[in-house]
Amino acid sequence: MTILYEHPPAFGVELEEKNIPVDHDGQENELVLDGGFIVPDANSFGHTFRDYDIESERQKGVEEFYRTNHINQTYGFVKRMREEYGKLNRVEMSIWECCELLNEFIDESDPDLDEPQIEHLLQTAEAIRKDYPDEDWLHLTGLIHDLGKVLLHPAFGELPQWAVVGDTFPVGCAFDESIVHHKYFTENPDCNNSAYNSKYGVYSEGCGLDRVSMSWGHDDYMYLVAKENKTTLPSAGLFIIRYHSFYALHRAGAYRHLMNEEDVENLKWLKIFNKYDLYSKSKVRIDVEKVKPYYLSLIEKYFPAKLRW
Ligand SMILES: [Fe+2]
Ligand SMILES: [Fe+2]
Repeated sequence: MTILYEHPPAFGVELEEKNIPVDHDGQENELVLDGGFIVPDANSFGHTFRDYDIESERQKGVEEFYRTNHINQTYGFVKRMREEYGKLNRVEMSIWECCELLNEFIDESDPDLDEPQIEHLLQTAEAIRKDYPDEDWLHLTGLIHDLGKVLLHPAFGELPQWAVVGDTFPVGCAFDESIVHHKYFTENPDCNNSAYNSKYGVYSEGCGLDRVSMSWGHDDYMYLVAKENKTTLPSAGLFIIRYHSFYALHRAGAYRHLMNEEDVENLKWLKIFNKYDLYSKSKVRIDVEKVKPYYLSLIEKYFPAKLRW
């Protein structure tokens, strides 16, 4: 991995000024978001009693997470993040190197995880491979869809968790009621801005989701990385990467008025993918070295040797 620039955590300053609590400050919370990524600080094993307390503590952590997320994910914030991270001037590395980077530092922050993060990625990929052996692009999508979580790493500005993980949703138009903890949007300044709070907001009927700004996180970041580095993955692969945490869309069926025909087609693949993302955390151990050559061949097929991040 080559780190190209030393980036100060530019956004941290702004967060501090606004006095917004961030989630990586060692609170005793455990958030399980988005199929297998454990936001650390509590050991999830060995909770043999007082499960009610643990559950309610966990709930409070999740609520606080979404409160912060919903207040801060504004149209302006997303625009700034896309501009900043769209430069792709932080790191140069291959897809596999990024898997290893994510593996190392997520394990560091959560020593109680019973298996390395890379195994979760490979479990998703291998489970898909078993059921859809001919869709190699979907296997690779399984492996890489969460790589954007490197935004939590110091070399990527060490973004707070509310700006990296969790459910995503469009900004620049009304927040749909199906979005988790919708009530917290009342404190989002965009809610009182007539340019952004109508059904269509800055968009138009059937404009296509790729024209729609999504709340900032690992999904949109990885989509940017893949696209700007000229991946040859089919559009369904990019669709999965960008919208895999967009539960209002794939679970509640919201925002259909912004979709175009291609989105409708791609959504079918996303729904397939999501079953594996959520339920692949099986106890089946993956022999990383054994499957690595297969995934390296897919990486070579669909990506350049080195990517700009
Ligand atoms: Fe995932
Ligand atoms: Fe994810």
